[in-house]
Amino acid sequence: TILTLDFGSQYTHLITRRLRELNILSEMLPCTTKIADLDYKPKGVILSGGPYSVYEDGAPHVDPAVFELGVPILGICYGMQEIAWRASPENVIAGVHREYGHSNLKALKGDDAHVDRLFDGLEDSMRVWMSHGDKLGALPEGFHTVAVSDNSEYAAIAHKTKPIYGLQFHPEVTHSQNGTQLLKNFAVGICECAQNWTMARFLDQEIARIRDLVGPEGQVLGAVSGGVDSTVAAKLMKEAIGDRFWAVLVNNGVMRLDECEQVERDLKQHLGINLTVIDASKDFLDGLKGLHDPEQKRKFIGGKFIDVFEAEAAKIEEAAEKSGKGTKIGFFLQGTLYPDVIESLSFKGPSATIKTHHNVGGLPERMTNGQGLQLIEPLRSLYKDEVRELGRTLGIHEELVMRHPFPGPGIAVRILGEVTEEKVRIARQADHIFISEIRKAGLYDQISQAYAAVDPSRAVGVMGDKRVYGYIIILRAVTTTDFMTAEAFNFPWEFLQRVMNRIVNEVNGVCRVTYDITSKPPGTIELE
Ligand code: XMP
Repeated sequence: TILTLDFGSQYTHLITRRLRELNILSEMLPCTTKIADLDYKPKGVILSGGPYSVYEDGAPHVDPAVFELGVPILGICYGMQEIAWRASPENVIAGVHREYGHSNLKALKGDDAHVDRLFDGLEDSMRVWMSHGDKLGALPEGFHTVAVSDNSEYAAIAHKTKPIYGLQFHPEVTHSQNGTQLLKNFAVGICECAQNWTMARFLDQEIARIRDLVGPEGQVLGAVSGGVDSTVAAKLMKEAIGDRFWAVLVNNGVMRLDECEQVERDLKQHLGINLTVIDASKDFLDGLKGLHDPEQKRKFIGGKFIDVFEAEAAKIEEAAEKSGKGTKIGFFLQGTLYPDVIESLSFKGPSATIKTHHNVGGLPERMTNGQGLQLIEPLRSLYKDEVRELGRTLGIHEELVMRHPFPGPGIAVRILGEVTEEKVRIARQADHIFISEIRKAGLYDQISQAYAAVDPSRAVGVMGDKRVYGYIIILRAVTTTDFMTAEAFNFPWEFLQRVMNRIVNEVNGVCRVTYDITSKPPGTIELE
């Protein structure tokens, strides 16, 4: 394992990401981690960048025991300044100018094998990404310069005899040419890590870990939605403990056309999961009557979900206890992903308390505190595309693995204002047409998320010589990598015309179709 200690840079998680892409096992922990608390010895340590100045009071510093581990160390930006500052605080100074953006790096390769290992296979000169205010004012004792840049005489440094390196630039961002190769040279060439981390291996290890944790008798409860994360987590539990995993699907009345039935088929027949479906659609739709405010709608759906789930969980626990399959339910499954936990693993500054993440509407907190259920989060070290890969490894069919995300409050946040049964019907039918046409045109996998929403204001139209007064459909389709920013998808005009034609002709009560071209920001992906 390569251990990355995080000093709070926005780029830190990319280090883990790049190493995983190289099939190298890697983990990120806060910079304040005590080395004595680790339950393994890493093969190498990376000290990340961070927004602080090492010489300021209260700036974060690494446990000095890191330097006693006897493993290679790579400091990136703040991490390099930390190495230099430890040698002597005078080594780090405030730069006159902040350096942000591309810079030309020149590696001083030559007769030092130690340096050449870091730059192995790379050209002497390359473009790298800089983002720093402070810089080294002097070399720490025992180090020498191994690369210079336009603005920096200490763009990369190395200890003359020990495997300790510092980079002022960020090899983990894709703007740095050969950055991944540099990380590979460190992890494989210098730390001698094997490149054998694969999804199949992860799956075997995770199954073993779950069996060990749950024991031969333990039973596990989990909510599923039909989305990729909860489906993959559920299939993983099924593989690990079979029918001692109990999945619950709540039909909240605001799922898409035939979605509940389809999810039930997928989970029960295709994946063989022990699933209970609760149809609470009437309760949800009744409760949504008269609610116009988006936050009120979300709150109601979240709260109702917990009520319905808890009531059912009690019944399932009883059934589980009587089933003879094992002891009573002691665990709760949650499909939390790595981007969600990065929040809590990242270093937030000396005084900040670390936020605990909760997924769907705060459910586990009540479940786990109130009923003493222990949380199982088998996907917490994976990114979304890795979850998809794991899904494939588990034999889940491609259409399910590649499904677009769908929000917990469902189409309730895709019907502006009050949700009524008529608007639910219209949203479902229009959405179904839009998504079917997207699939037919072979565009589904190029789009990150797409749906049709209902605008409750109505417009006048003319159909078959008759005046009509109908709702407006808003089509939305975006591309994004992280769902934090997004762009509207650029459809061919003929495609939009075809979808418009089908919707106005086939969906009763609609007389206009619009395409939302707003990016995020300023728009969000959902309308509410
Ligand atoms: P926004 O609308 O905030 O959406 O740009 C970003 C992503 O999050 C999804 N989303 C939700 N997912 N519960 C969820 O499980 C929610 O309440 C929720 N609201 C938004 C949205 O679909 C998009 O993928």
